[in-house]
Amino acid sequence: MQAWQTYLDAAVEAARLAGSYQRHRFSSQLDVDMKGDKDLVTEVDRDSERLITGHLLARFPDHNILAEEGDYRRTGSPLRWVIDPVDGTTNYAHGFPWFCSSIALEADDQLVAGVIYNPIHDELFTAIKGGGAYLNGRRLQVSGHAPLRDTLLGTGFPYDCASDPANNFANFIAFQKAARGIRRAGAAALDLASVAAGRLDGFWELKLKPWDVAAGILLVQEAGGTVSSFDGSAFDISQNRIVASNGLIHHEMTGMLAAVAAKEME
Ligand code: IPD
Ligand code: CA
Ligand code: CA
Repeated sequence: MQAWQTYLDAAVEAARLAGSYQRHRFSSQLDVDMKGDKDLVTEVDRDSERLITGHLLARFPDHNILAEEGDYRRTGSPLRWVIDPVDGTTNYAHGFPWFCSSIALEADDQLVAGVIYNPIHDELFTAIKGGGAYLNGRRLQVSGHAPLRDTLLGTGFPYDCASDPANNFANFIAFQKAARGIRRAGAAALDLASVAAGRLDGFWELKLKPWDVAAGILLVQEAGGTVSSFDGSAFDISQNRIVASNGLIHHEMTGMLAAVAAKEME
């Protein structure tokens, strides 16, 4: 556990560096490009990625990088950083103050450290494998809310939801009926951090990318929660149907997703 602390410290520095810049540029005039129909990228996404990768590679030049906005050469290292420089880009571009950076470290494909930083709220979520999850240094524990009807859930919708039927709409309707409420806040990494912090009791989404979920998964697990694929099987960051919960409602959530999928097959 101690072994990963140096790396976590570097990731925290990188996230704070990007966070200060994001705070500084927030609500200013931005260059915005479209990646797809609804999918934006701003100059702040690219600059933030440069700040984060620049900081990490200056410390660890032989490490691998998987990050949303760039392509990086493969090295022979077993260590890989998985980075979303701005999670919640649509929020950022619209001046809606809910976004973060997400930085995770994998060693031999295992998540070993994770940082999620919300610069507007100055909330720093950190986790080391086997060492617990923390918010600004305070230990986190998932909620004790159950059953599903007593819970608040989070989710999101893929950018191509208007053109691809795998759009999460039917799941949303089913959970909205079954749970107390659902929030679609627009930053998957913060949704996962919110499950770790007990602010949300569960989260599910499809078509997410490794950088959306890597740090958040470790946070949820280290806060005592459960992460799986929609069918309840083990989740790894290359898959794209994730369920994360306080553990108590996990079975109900995967059951609901299975029931919706079965109905859609009819
Ligand atoms: C997006 C956010 C959003 C989720 C999208 C993601 P981005 O990431 O996490 O909550 O619903 O699917 O792509 O584009 O803001 O980094
Ligand atoms: Ca993202
Ligand atoms: Ca992003």
